Amino acid sequence: MKVTVVGAGNVGATCADVLAHREIANEIVLLDIKEGVAEGKALDIWQTAPINLYDSRTVGSTNDYSKTADSDVVVITSGLPRKPGMSRDDLIATNAGIVKTVTENVVKYSPNAIIIVVSNPLDVMTYCAYLNAKIDSKRVFGMAGVLDTARYRAFLATELNVSPKDIQAVLMGGHGDTMVPLPRYTTVAGIPVTEMIGEEKLNEIIERTKFGGGEIVKLLGTSAWYAPGAAAAQMVEAIVRDQKRIFPVCAWLDGEYGMKDIYLGVPVVLGKNGIEKIIELDLNDAEKALLEESAVAVKSVMAVLDNMNAANA
Ligand code: NAI
Ligand code: 2OP
Repeated sequence: MKVTVVGAGNVGATCADVLAHREIANEIVLLDIKEGVAEGKALDIWQTAPINLYDSRTVGSTNDYSKTADSDVVVITSGLPRKPGMSRDDLIATNAGIVKTVTENVVKYSPNAIIIVVSNPLDVMTYCAYLNAKIDSKRVFGMAGVLDTARYRAFLATELNVSPKDIQAVLMGGHGDTMVPLPRYTTVAGIPVTEMIGEEKLNEIIERTKFGGGEIVKLLGTSAWYAPGAAAAQMVEAIVRDQKRIFPVCAWLDGEYGMKDIYLGVPVVLGKNGIEKIIELDLNDAEKALLEESAVAVKSVMAVLDNMNAANA
């Protein structure tokens, strides 16, 4: 199996490292536009193989997509973080330009690849990749829910002093402060979480999860990379090993949850064909209202991209 990671920054390099270390793919290509960066990081990762005892090979490329040819999965992490003075719309314009070019190159050299988008703003960058890839939406989707759910599970594990392995949860909606953690679908070793924790504490954890990305930005001055890189690698693993794992994924909705023409976080089955099924939960009225609120927020950001595309047409 061959996997390409575009963008050899913090998230991309971490993702490539996890893919290699865990032998999720036997060939990993790391590509970046900055001269030598991808080659340098790929070489460094490869030099961990004799220490960590694995044989997956990581190679780097400075913007030469021929090296990515025939990849089975491509993870797109290229993009700028928001800088001081930059509006959200400026960020969308800059990153959409990057994601468009990258996607066109990816599809040219790997027409059968499954594409996982990580670049922010996540929901709209996934939409941008879909518009430019011109392939089935089941093969273009975004990583956010695996990360957001991991944050929620980690906070719960700390609070309850139990293993994070035993915490299962579903989180839906966009990758932002309107995301929708679902306590009704959160269990601790099969026990409903509400039997283990008081409502007030649970609500605090839900709020902390919604702002989990910002919490790390405040501490580090840039966004997170260990958990995002590992989350993207876990999605790659589900695909290349055809695991049929159930993850929250930013997926194109075509009537599911009563919504159409929107990329939104929903639980899906991931396997060798990409999204093999979108799972439709029987949400109650309160949960539906939160999901709809999140969809309105995501739609408004997608509209920014649509308007930019219309102005440039
Ligand atoms: P970074 O700045 O460390 O890395 C980005 C890399 O993209 C840089 O090395 C840059 O040279 C490269 N790049 C820029 N334009 C390119 C192009 N046209 N072709 C190839 N490479 C190009 O940023 P970091 O921390 O790795 O984050 C990457 C993206 O992922 C950001 O947009 C960030 O906001 C997003 N992110 C998304 C998360 C999610 O949950 N979906 C979580 C964490 C980050
Ligand atoms: C995160 O959630 C900022 O999307 C980035 O860490």
